[in-house]
Amino acid sequence: MLSKALQGGVLTALLLASLPASAQVDGQQLFQQHCSKCHGANGNAHTLRGWLLFAQNLSKPKWQANTTDDEILHAIQQGPGAMPAYAEKLSSEEQQALLKHLRSLAKPTPE
Ligand code: HEC
Repeated sequence: MLSKALQGGVLTALLLASLPASAQVDGQQLFQQHCSKCHGANGNAHTLRGWLLFAQNLSKPKWQANTTDDEILHAIQQGPGAMPAYAEKLSSEEQQALLKHLRSLAKPTPE
């Protein structure tokens, strides 16, 4: 039989474990969750949906060089073309984390 104290401890542990890890925003994880279905895990948009919807290849160095942080944030918030808007779905902290992750996707390969 569990003692009251032990039960309390178990409950506390369960509560703590179920708290969302809101303090830690993981740009890579957010990208996999929200963006990779169209833009691909590495941003090159070689996915069926990316192909069908003409999703931007985010790993293209030329695109990276010609696109400002503001433009990327704007795209995330408004969703150009067939892309959904994330202004309501992602906090500004999450949008910043995504921007940072996007900047890490540039690949020095053609296409
Ligand atoms: C349903 C598919 C889809 C999803 C999901 C999606 N995108 Fe897009 N994205 C697109 C398409 C299509 C375009 C090109 C739209 C256009 O240029 O008309 C695009 C364009 C962009 C651009 C380029 C805008 C520009 O100015 O060149 C950025 C940046 C971008 N997406 C980031 C993201 C991020 C970050 C996420 C996840 C939060 C995401 N996308 C989720 C389809 C998608």
